[in-house]
Amino acid sequence: MDLRVQKAPREDHELPDSMTSPFLQCIEQGCERRYPLDAKEHLCSACGALLDVRYDFSQIDAKSLSKVWQQRKMSSAITDQSGVWRFRELLPFVPAGTQVISLSEGRTPLVEVNRTGEWAGVQLSIKHQGNNPTGSFKDLGMTACITQAAILGSRVTACASTGNTSASMAAYAARAGMKAVVFVPFGKISTAKLAQALEFGAVVIEMGDNFDQAFRMLRDLTDELGLYLVNSLNPFRLEGQKTIVCEILEQRDWRVPDYLVLPGGNLGNVSSVGKGLQELQQIGVIDKLPRLVVVQAEGANPFFTMIATGADEIVPVQPRTEASAIRIGNPVNWKKALRALRFTDGLCESVSDEQIFEAKAALAKDGVGCEPASAASVAGIQKLVQSGKMEDGADVVAVLTGHQLKDPEISIKRRSERELAQQRLHVEPDIDKLRAALESVMLQSA
Ligand code: F0G
Repeated sequence: MDLRVQKAPREDHELPDSMTSPFLQCIEQGCERRYPLDAKEHLCSACGALLDVRYDFSQIDAKSLSKVWQQRKMSSAITDQSGVWRFRELLPFVPAGTQVISLSEGRTPLVEVNRTGEWAGVQLSIKHQGNNPTGSFKDLGMTACITQAAILGSRVTACASTGNTSASMAAYAARAGMKAVVFVPFGKISTAKLAQALEFGAVVIEMGDNFDQAFRMLRDLTDELGLYLVNSLNPFRLEGQKTIVCEILEQRDWRVPDYLVLPGGNLGNVSSVGKGLQELQQIGVIDKLPRLVVVQAEGANPFFTMIATGADEIVPVQPRTEASAIRIGNPVNWKKALRALRFTDGLCESVSDEQIFEAKAALAKDGVGCEPASAASVAGIQKLVQSGKMEDGADVVAVLTGHQLKDPEISIKRRSERELAQQRLHVEPDIDKLRAALESVMLQSA
């Protein structure tokens, strides 16, 4: 089957010609070797460093951009309905006439959470990426990366995952008519995420007991077997994810917050957000930057440790946390993440599982659910305010990366016996017993 994308039959699927000439470039200062967009390498063959997708944005008129983006919201074209491709001037790696592989991702709400804000000590809004087609922020990166896989004529895509990347890749690969193979740690990802990947037709290989091990083994085989690797070391993933910055700022009428906070695992998302901010500033859409904050779980915090100790290199750890999505001990994107924090005068924090679940409970009081990893961002904010590293009352946006139903078991497991005794009542189908139970419930709200 030929998976090369054909010229789209409908005009509204088409992307315009770009004035730019994109290329891949090694991020290492002093190397900066360039590669064509269709290069096989995900890493620099000269020095082994990560690659960026680079563009010449000099022809872009910053003044008209935000208007064009706004106008597209009224259009029903699939590229305009997508919260990634609506900002396509920032993604000119896609040739004119390409049909993108999209599920109308992005377009997620920015919601004020006053109770949680009070709990954390800041003025807080959350950008809920759980409202994406497969329930996590990964869909933003996947539409870009699977579109690139289609442009290259790839037939089999692969990733190692703590669950969300695999669910997202499986969905977008299915849509593109590609085979998906996912490597996950054995018994260590939530049933909901596993079910998603299986339902979308992926082959799931369960191996080892952590992400890092699965990722290392997969990387050894991708080139040999010609698999298209979609982990976040693939620079096209980060291109899609960077558009979250446009959505957030547009939703705030382009008022830049003081801080933008994300949880960190493999550190792809913070890297992409940093790149998005840098490009928006370079083009002239914004003239101020938020300070980026990345929050790791205490049992999987090698990036935090590196920064806190002033070390030059990351030292991998055996990851341990109940926030399974960020249970990663050897984050591949740490150099890009460091670049993002330096560029935005950013911060890194580390929080315990206890603090993560307290933050999750605080969000629940605002009617907002998320998976545990996502709540790390909110836990980190409270910790930074308490230690005086973030100003009391600062204007903060926290990214919630995954949907509450991604990990339902943990929500029940984490409730105390007292809470469950009040909330989960087993009542016999007897009207008097039911009345007594309801009376006790009414006393609770008195
Ligand atoms: N939050 C959630 C819900 C995630 O699934 C992940 C990563 C992160 C945060 C961290 O993002 O890796 O870009 O720093 N999940 C990957 C996966 C690793 O396989 O689903 P990151």
